[in-house]
Amino acid sequence: QRPQPLKGKRILITAGPTHEPIDPVRYIANRSSGKQGFAIADAARSAGAEVILVSGPVELDEPRGVDVKHVESARDMLSAVEAALPVDIAIFAAAVADWRVVSEGAQKIKKKAGEAMPPLQLTENPDILATISKRGTNRPPLVIGFAAETEHLIDNATAKIKRKGCDWIVANDVSPATGIMGGDSNTVNLLTRDKESGEIAVDSWAPMSKEDVAVTLVARIASSL
Ligand code: C5P
Repeated sequence: QRPQPLKGKRILITAGPTHEPIDPVRYIANRSSGKQGFAIADAARSAGAEVILVSGPVELDEPRGVDVKHVESARDMLSAVEAALPVDIAIFAAAVADWRVVSEGAQKIKKKAGEAMPPLQLTENPDILATISKRGTNRPPLVIGFAAETEHLIDNATAKIKRKGCDWIVANDVSPATGIMGGDSNTVNLLTRDKESGEIAVDSWAPMSKEDVAVTLVARIASSL
């Protein structure tokens, strides 16, 4: 029996992309394999936590012993997240689509020769991380976001932790050359904001597998409790 530092803790994790329907056969999405979020769910469960994993469409096996809620759109994801509250820790690893189509077509939009392309009118999706971070009631005591950036990683992540109102941010460089996106390894920086002083500390981790990032993050959470 391994040590269970998160026994008695309830952890909510989001993972994967969201799909925003255009019509019954088309959608808008971000690139996301869901691997990092699933790995965190597995590591948290191994550490003894009760885990609720809210996942967008992914092609991964469900981690054992985890309560998985499958969703499609950002709005569905927000509802599933809110339904899971209260939790002790919330980790938002999903790559939520920023925009959705204003009115979803009830039928497949047909391509017609010689006709102009249909315009897509977009509207903003709810920001799940910011919504939960700024809640008055049932705000989880520890809210962790992710920041995938292609440049100015630490500056952008520092701005994001303040703007979103979360406590920690796991920041990673996803420039195509890194091979992180869809790959099996990850190079991350953990930004933690001190609850009293508001001061932000940055910890740069060595490159490691997404499983090891998950285990390291879970250990870090356990030692902060
Ligand atoms: O703003 P950006 O998408 O870069 O922020 C990334 C963080 O915010 C991630 O933790 C992601 O899961 C979360 N997020 C969210 N809802 C959105 C957009 C991002 O929860 N609509």
